[in-house]
This record gives sequence, structure tokens and C-alpha cells, in this order.
Amino acid sequence: MNIIVTGGAGFIGGNFIHYYLKEHPEDRVICVDKLTYAGNLSTLAPVMDNPNFRFCRLDICDRENVFSLFEEEKPDAVINFAAESHVDRSIENPGIFLQTNIIGTATMMDACRAFGNIRYHQVSTDEVYGDLPLDRPDLFFTETTPIHTSSPYSSSKAGADLLVQAYQRTYGLPITISRCSNNYGPYHFPEKLIPLMIANCLNDKPLPVYGEGLNVRDWLYVEDHCKAIDLILHKGRIGEVYNVGGHNEMRNIDIVKLIIEALGKDESLITYVTDRKGHDLRYAIDPTKIHEELGWLPETKFQDGIKKTIKWYLENRQWWEEIISGEYQNYYEKMYGNR
Ligand code: NAD
Ligand code: TYD
Repeated sequence: MNIIVTGGAGFIGGNFIHYYLKEHPEDRVICVDKLTYAGNLSTLAPVMDNPNFRFCRLDICDRENVFSLFEEEKPDAVINFAAESHVDRSIENPGIFLQTNIIGTATMMDACRAFGNIRYHQVSTDEVYGDLPLDRPDLFFTETTPIHTSSPYSSSKAGADLLVQAYQRTYGLPITISRCSNNYGPYHFPEKLIPLMIANCLNDKPLPVYGEGLNVRDWLYVEDHCKAIDLILHKGRIGEVYNVGGHNEMRNIDIVKLIIEALGKDESLITYVTDRKGHDLRYAIDPTKIHEELGWLPETKFQDGIKKTIKWYLENRQWWEEIISGEYQNYYEKMYGNR
């Protein structure tokens, strides 16, 4: 199989490419990535010399060059990870989220239609379901929970999901959608909660906790997400949505304290800062469907996954130090300078 993976220089796409080439050495992977601030070629260094891998720097909205690539590579499947992915950035600047997340998705699907109704998988998020109240731990997102978004990021992802479903119904495009909870693991850009707290802890910098730190996220080790997408691609039912998550809900403040303890630092580093606008309270996935239909279950327990993740950040300082010393520094000042 020839597979186009978009957004492969980012966190989950990069982990997916490493995983996929190991699991399917007979397949060929073509990574399409624009290399925005979130894309790092160093994430793909371990596979760059693999003869079954090709990197192509390309914007998924660039219709002409996307079509040329399809013409040249004749892919059997497309997995679309490419997106603007950070909620805080979407609050500052929604436009690029609409462009990449919606127009980019449409462009990739148009190419799939034009070159023989190619199998298309959309990597989506549980954030399209909005949030759940903190005092109702009995409630979970299922695939039939109504779309109800809070941020420009989640709205753009929801718009893309609706478009993906419309392309199936209208044109018969063979699609699937996965909606996953928060991921963590290696190669996670240090603007997101877990890597930001690890990096700041290691540099003895304040740990900015939004509001009171009581918001809840459902954390999944990134490799478990990669396995779920691989299963859906090969065995998922066409036209279906699959929720992916591992019943691992944690409050932000507890995650921060756990990282402080693991790194032997002091809780005095915690700094409570102004809350995020429209901050979603709680995300929690019900993964019954993917478990019953495809046999998927998360394999990495949080206690193990977070240890592996912290170890990775300790052993790969160069990867994240290069990021936080560059353009990201301006972002950090802007977002946290007067917060
Ligand atoms: P990321 O921000 O780390 O990576 C995104 C990648 O997409 C980067 O390599 C970037 O260069 C590339 N990209 C951005 N715009 C592009 C464009 N116009 N054309 C081509 N490439 C472009 O994101 P991530 O955390 O790896 O998320 C990947 C996908 O998974 C996204 O679709 C996101 O919505 C979804 N998702 C993420 C999480 C999470 O916890 N991180 C959870 C559920 C779903
Ligand atoms: P984030 O990693 O941005 O993921 P998402 O908002 O997509 O779930 O944030 C996870 C949670 O951590 C969210 O409730 C916001 C909170 N948070 C902080 O408290 N401080 C921070 O500096 C960041 C980046 C996030």
C-alpha cells in the first residue's frame, strides 16, 4: 500500500509514521507537511533514510501541488493529521484554523475523489463534542453525542468532520473519522500542557496553571492512538466515526503536581494564571464502539506512559530546547508575559 500521511512532522503524525513503518514494512509512506511552527523535520529523522518513506513539504491547501503529488504517487489511502492544533492560538487567530483545518481537508478529499475514490481517514478530536460538566462523572462522549463546540479550534475540526461525512454521503468517498482524547508522549510540542510543564520544570521556570487547574482531560498515550488509527484504516467500517480514549481522566493540577514530583522539583513553581477564554471543563470518551468492533484497548497505563514521556524529554533535550529557543519564545512572551 502507498499511503499519504499529512502532518507527519507534527506530534501524532510523526509518532504514527514511526509506528506504521515498523508495523507495515511492506507499505510506503509519503508524508505531506507544510512545516509550520509545529512541524519539525527532526521528528522524522529516524525514518528519513527508510527507502519506503518520502517527505514532501507541501501545504494541504495547495490544490495544484496536492493534485500533482497524487498523480505522481497514486496513493491507496490518505490519513489527514495536518491541522492547526492549539486552542490558545485559535483564540488569538482563528483564520488559519479555518484555512488549514477546513479548506485543507476539502482539498485532500477532492484529490481523493479525482484520483479514483481513494480511502480517506480524518483524524479528529473529542473537542468537537464540547465539554461535560465537572459534577457529572457518569457522562461520557459517545459517537452520537451532538457536535457542540467551544473554541475556534474545535469548531474548525467539527466543520471538517461534517464535510468529511458530506463527501461520503454526496460522492460516496470511502471515509472514516476518529475522535480521540488528549494525547501525550514523545515529540509533543512544548506549548501543550504536559510537555510545557516538563520543559518549564526542568528549567526551573514558573508552571502556568489556567484558572484553578480543576479542568479535566482524558489522557491517552500517543502510541495507543496510532494503533487505533491503524486498525480503523484497515478494518474500520466505511462511513463510521470511532471515539478513541482510555478512561484516564485527570485534573490539570494533578498532572502538574505529578510532573513536579517526578522531576524532584518544588510546588512553589506553580503559578495560577488567568483562565483560558471559553475553557472546556471536562472531556471524557466512551470507547465502547472501537473496543467491541475492532478489539482496540489502550495498552499503556498512565503511570507508565508519563514515566516514559518524562524520560524521553530528559534524553532528548536538544529536540525541545531548539524549539523553545526559537520563534516559540515570542509566542511564550505574548501568551504568558502579562497573564
Ligand atoms: P501538531 O500541531 O503537533 O502537528 C500538526 C502538523 O501539521 C505539523 O507538522 C504542521 O507543520 C502540519 N501542518 C499544519 N498546517 C499544515 C498545512 N496547511 N499543510 C500541511 N501541513 C500542515 O498536531 P498534533 O497534536 O500532532 O495533532 C495531529 C492531529 O490530531 C490534528 O488533526 C489534531 O486536531 C488531532 N488531535 C490531536 C490531539 C492531541 O492531543 N494533540 C487529540 C485528538 C486529535
Ligand atoms: P492543552 O494541552 O492546550 O490541550 P487542550 O486544551 O486541547 O485540551 O491543555 C490541556 C489543559 O491544560 C487545558 O485544560 C488547558 C490547561 N493548560 C494550562 O493550565 N496551562 C497551560 O500553560 C496550558 C498550555 C494548558
